[in-house]
Amino acid sequence: MQLLDIPFNDRRRRYLMFHTRDLPERLALSQTTTTAAFEAVGSSHFFVSQDGRILAKVVPDKFSKTLEPFKWLTRDYLEKRWLGQSDARKEYLSMRILKQAGLRTPRFHGWGLSLNPLNRNASLLLMERVSGATTAGDVFDQLPRPQQKSFLDKFSKEVAQLARAGFVHRDLHFNNLLIDEQGDFTWVDAHVRPLPRQTAKRWRLLEDSLTPNKLRGHDNLKEVSNRLHHYLDQFDGDLSQDSR
Ligand SMILES: Nc1ncnc2c1ncn2[C@@H]1O[C@H](COP(=O)(O)OP(=O)(O)O)[C@@H](O)[C@H]1O
Ligand SMILES: [Mg+2]
Repeated sequence: MQLLDIPFNDRRRRYLMFHTRDLPERLALSQTTTTAAFEAVGSSHFFVSQDGRILAKVVPDKFSKTLEPFKWLTRDYLEKRWLGQSDARKEYLSMRILKQAGLRTPRFHGWGLSLNPLNRNASLLLMERVSGATTAGDVFDQLPRPQQKSFLDKFSKEVAQLARAGFVHRDLHFNNLLIDEQGDFTWVDAHVRPLPRQTAKRWRLLEDSLTPNKLRGHDNLKEVSNRLHHYLDQFDGDLSQDSR
């Protein structure tokens, strides 16, 4: 645990940081055209370090202190800042689960929170800025159908890998995934929840995580669902062979 005073566009903010590693002696963050492009895709705010190596993801309070003071106090201030429900902490823990399941994620440099009620940007996640990769959603739209199918196959395999580890992604969206020129994936935005042990319930949750909106159409959804069944059956087969 460490207290860090970080300049954000020259304005200093103090954060209580956890799991910090490989941070430069003086971390200063600013907004650039790159971070503006990231903000256009998602709902978080982004800042980058001077050397461009570290990306800071900031999640502001959900409720307004003046318009909904009770909700702000209980949800944003008490739950998120004092009771461990901070967005950055949850994302950090989910990313660790993805990594343990064998999926690639950016390197993490720590997560933190601000206890100052005047700072609306309470949640801070510091991670590697992945370079040489593009948001998978943008790449997917440009691919001819056979290559889209290979992408969907790899996507399903990784979702199955996470399911084998006992978890489902809560926001299975092509924009939460980066893809490089070799076609390798890096998962950038994950919140996972544990899957129940019972097979029928497990399938229901997995199927519910696939939506036509996030997977860009019913055809893709059907394809992912079929491939997911295929990989999970295969894993189950391997598992029963192992126990023989
Ligand atoms: N570590 C990273 N390296 C490079 N690009 C990133 C990284 N994290 C996020 N991005 C880019 O920013 C976009 C939004 O990030 P995301 O974490 O999904 O934010 P939100 O929580 O607002 O949805 C992603 O689609 C991706 O293009
Ligand atoms: Mg996202």
